[in-house]
Amino acid sequence: MCGIVGYVGEKRATPLLLDGLRRLEYRGYDSAGVATLDQDRVQVVRRVGFVQNLAAAIPADMPGHTGIGHTRWATHGGVTEQNAHPHADSTNRIALAHNGIIENHAVLRARLEDDGIVFRSETDTEVLVHLVSKFYTGDPVDAVRKALLLVQGTYGIAVIFAAHPGLIVAARNGSPLVVGKGDGESFLASDPHALAAYTRQVVYLEDRDIARIDQEGWTLSRLDGSDVSRVVEVLGEEWADDGRGDYSHHMLKEIREQPESLARCLRGRVVPESGGARLGGLDMDPREIAHIQRVGVLGCGTSFHASLVGAAAMESLARIPAFAEISSEFRYRNPVIGRDDMFFAVSQSGETADTLGAVREVQVKGGRIFGVVNVVGSSIARTCGKGVYVHSGPEIAVASTKAFTSQVAALLVAALSFARTRTLGPHEGKAFGDELLAVPSAVGEWLESEPPSVMDAVELVTKGRFVFFLGRGVSHAVALEGALKLKEIAYVPCMAYPAAEMKHGPIALIDHNTPVVVIVPDDVMRDKTLSTIAEVKARGARVVVVHSAGDMHAARVADISIPVPRASTLLSPLLTALPLQLLAYRSGLALGRDIDRPRNLAKSVTVE
Ligand code: AGP
Repeated sequence: MCGIVGYVGEKRATPLLLDGLRRLEYRGYDSAGVATLDQDRVQVVRRVGFVQNLAAAIPADMPGHTGIGHTRWATHGGVTEQNAHPHADSTNRIALAHNGIIENHAVLRARLEDDGIVFRSETDTEVLVHLVSKFYTGDPVDAVRKALLLVQGTYGIAVIFAAHPGLIVAARNGSPLVVGKGDGESFLASDPHALAAYTRQVVYLEDRDIARIDQEGWTLSRLDGSDVSRVVEVLGEEWADDGRGDYSHHMLKEIREQPESLARCLRGRVVPESGGARLGGLDMDPREIAHIQRVGVLGCGTSFHASLVGAAAMESLARIPAFAEISSEFRYRNPVIGRDDMFFAVSQSGETADTLGAVREVQVKGGRIFGVVNVVGSSIARTCGKGVYVHSGPEIAVASTKAFTSQVAALLVAALSFARTRTLGPHEGKAFGDELLAVPSAVGEWLESEPPSVMDAVELVTKGRFVFFLGRGVSHAVALEGALKLKEIAYVPCMAYPAAEMKHGPIALIDHNTPVVVIVPDDVMRDKTLSTIAEVKARGARVVVVHSAGDMHAARVADISIPVPRASTLLSPLLTALPLQLLAYRSGLALGRDIDRPRNLAKSVTVE
C-alpha cells in the first residue's frame, strides 16, 4: 500500500528519499513522487510506475535539504501523474503526502471549490493540502491541526512548507508513521524498513498525534492541542536486513528461511520438562486459562488461513470451542462477545485495516484480544497491548510464506499451553511439544532436497485452464493457502474446496484440462480424501497429490506425487504448505510474472 518517507537535515534530500521509497517498494504501489523545498516554493516530481521511473525524472541537482516522498497505491482516482503524491496547494508553497482515506472528501472538496480552489487531481488527498493552506497563517502545526479537525477518515500525512525550511509536520490517525533520529538529521516513514538503514532510534506516532520534525528531533502534540511525549524505541538488527542476498527473489529467500524462522518462533516457548508451553506475551495464569469459554481467531488472507489451523488446534487439542473468521466480516456483523471469550488477531504486518478494525470491535464490546503479529511495534501489536510475536524476521515479498508457518507454529504453541492446563497430561503434552520442536529441521531437510515432481506440477498447473485445490480439516486451510499463493503470484485461476464438497457442485467443472492439487497427509481423513481423488480422476482430472512420505497408496493414485515428511494432523500444515509455496513461486517464474511485485497487490493492506 501507500508509503511515506521524509528527510530533514544537512544532506541533499532526494537521494535519501529515493532510497527510502525503494525500501518501501515491497508494499506495492503504482506511482511515486517526491517534494522538496526550493527557496520560496515546493518542487514536486511525480511519475507513474516504479521508483526507477521517478529517479530517472528527478534532475541531478534537484535542490532541498528537506523533503517528503510517497509511493501511491490508487484508491480514489486512476493511476496518473496528477493523482500521484505529493500534492501541492494552489500557491505551490505547501506540499503534502497522505496514506489512508479521507471519507468526507466530497463535501470538503465542494466547499473548497466554492471558495475558488481549482483541483488538479481526482484524489481524496488533495482536499487536505488545500485545507492546510487555507488555515495557514504562519504556524504550520496549527494549520495542520485545524485542517485535520475537519477530516473524517484515516491518515498518515507528511507536510512541508516553503516558509519553514528544515521542518516537516506529520500526523497520524489509523495509518502508521514512525519518526527516527540521526546525527543532525531526522527521518520519517510509514514503515520502519525505510529508515532502519539510517537510524534505530525511533518513535511510533499514536493516533491523533502531530509531530513537528526538524533536524534536531521532534516535538509531539495531540490533535486537541495538548502536549505529549512518546518513548523512544530501538529497532532490532533484523530490520536493516531487507536484502535478497544471493537469491533471485525475496519470496524464494523467505521460503528457504523457514527452518530458522520456525526455530526462532518456537525457541524458549515449548517447555519439554512440563509438557507445556510458555508465552510470556499472553500473561495468563492457569486459572484464567481454565475459564476460557470460546476462542475466536481473526485474520485476512494468509493470516486467516493460519487462523483456521489455530482454531482447529484450540478445539481438538485444548477442547475449547473455537472458530476462525475473516476480520472484515467479523467486524461488521455485530458479533456476540462473551466475558470469558478470548480472541487472537493474526497479522504479519500488524497494519491490516480490517484486522485492526476487528481488534477494536472486540475491545469496544469488552472482549480480550491478543495479537499474533510479526512486525514489532505495529498498530495491531500496540492496540492489542498483549500477544505473541511470531519472529519471522522481515517478510518483504508480497506473498506471505515464512510468516504463515510461523503464525501456525505460534498458534499451536498457544493451543499446547491451553491444552496442558485443560486436557493434556505431561506425557501427551511433551510428545506434542517434542514433535513441534522437530519440525524446523524436517522443513530444512525437505527444502534442501525439494522433490523434482514440484516442477512436474508446475508444468501441469501452468497449462491448465483452471486449478482446484482440495483438502479436509487443516488440509483445507492449506488448500486455501496454496490456491491464494498460485493466484497472487502466477495469476493462475484457481479455487480451493473442502474435498468432500466437490460432489455438491464444483465437480461439474472437472475435465481432462483441470489439474487438481490434493493435500492428503496420512491422518484420519486420508481415506475419505482418497475417495475424492478417485472421483475427480474418473472425470479425467490430472491429480497432484501432496502426501506423507511412505504413503505408497497415495503416491500410486497420484499423477504427480509430492511426498513431505510425516507429521501428526495439527502439525501437517507446516510441511504440506511447503510444496504449495514452491509451486506458486516456480509457476510464477515459468509464466514470467513479477514475483516480488505482483500486479494490483500490496504487502500491507492499510485501507478497508
Ligand atoms: C498473502 O500472501 C497475501 N499477500 C495477503 O493475503 C495477506 O496475508 C493479508 O493481506 C493479510 O496481511 P497481514 O498478515 O499483514 O494482516
